[in-house]
Amino acid sequence: MMKVGYIQFHPLFGEVDYNRTHTLELIHQRADADLLVLPELCTTGYLFTDKTELERLAEFIPEGKSTKAWIKIAKETNTYLVAGICEKTKDGKFYNSSVLIGPEGYIDTYRKIHLFNTEKNFFSPGNGPFKIYDIGIAKLGMIICFDWAFPELTRILALNGAEIICHPSNLVLSFAQKVMLARSIENRVYTITANRIGDDIRPSSKLIFTGESQVTSPKMEILLKASVDKEEIGVVEIDPLLAQNKMITANNHIFLDRRVELYQPIINHNELEK
Ligand code: ACM
Repeated sequence: MMKVGYIQFHPLFGEVDYNRTHTLELIHQRADADLLVLPELCTTGYLFTDKTELERLAEFIPEGKSTKAWIKIAKETNTYLVAGICEKTKDGKFYNSSVLIGPEGYIDTYRKIHLFNTEKNFFSPGNGPFKIYDIGIAKLGMIICFDWAFPELTRILALNGAEIICHPSNLVLSFAQKVMLARSIENRVYTITANRIGDDIRPSSKLIFTGESQVTSPKMEILLKASVDKEEIGVVEIDPLLAQNKMITANNHIFLDRRVELYQPIINHNELEK
């Protein structure tokens, strides 16, 4: 058994120091958790207007201030953290990333592969590989926000053994929370969606984020759900071993029943265009 959860809050656009400090306060409040997931881009906010802003607000991983602060608190609280962060690299690229950090220190970074809408103007897409992390008490996989719309990614993570899908988010549509229930049952995994609340009001546009962070189970249950607009930390006890049982009826194994020989069109754009 282990305690997992989400931290839902309102990152203030551009206020990286304030946002980082606030995540530390919130993580401290649930120091009893084994795994906490924080929202996408939780140190910067979401709605960038130009690359100068990105350059100013993005951080290197793992030597940036936010990753370092999370490494310290993960050690102090003996907690694993998955947190969305705006990453910059030495070769001048920007990624919409999430870091996995544990009591043993920095573990790895996932770079979002399916960029949403105007994110394409600012970020380079990640290119995998889709890794699984065995943290001893569970095996984790990471996706970020709009990755929810591409079931192939969660499927690959589950096929590779992920028991919990960590899903930092800045959701603006109302579909993902429902879809993640499908991701749970079709793969028999837990999912933790950590969404943000509030709005980003910028000179040329505005976005309102939809909250309702949640934890779902391999049986398609919503174990925990947050409000639409309040800062909340939700923590629930789960049994990761449940995600190893892929039988959906006595006669149906959710992976072995796949008819992969019939699925070629989903990996070939040209086939779909015919
Ligand atoms: C999203 O991918 N942030 C909607």
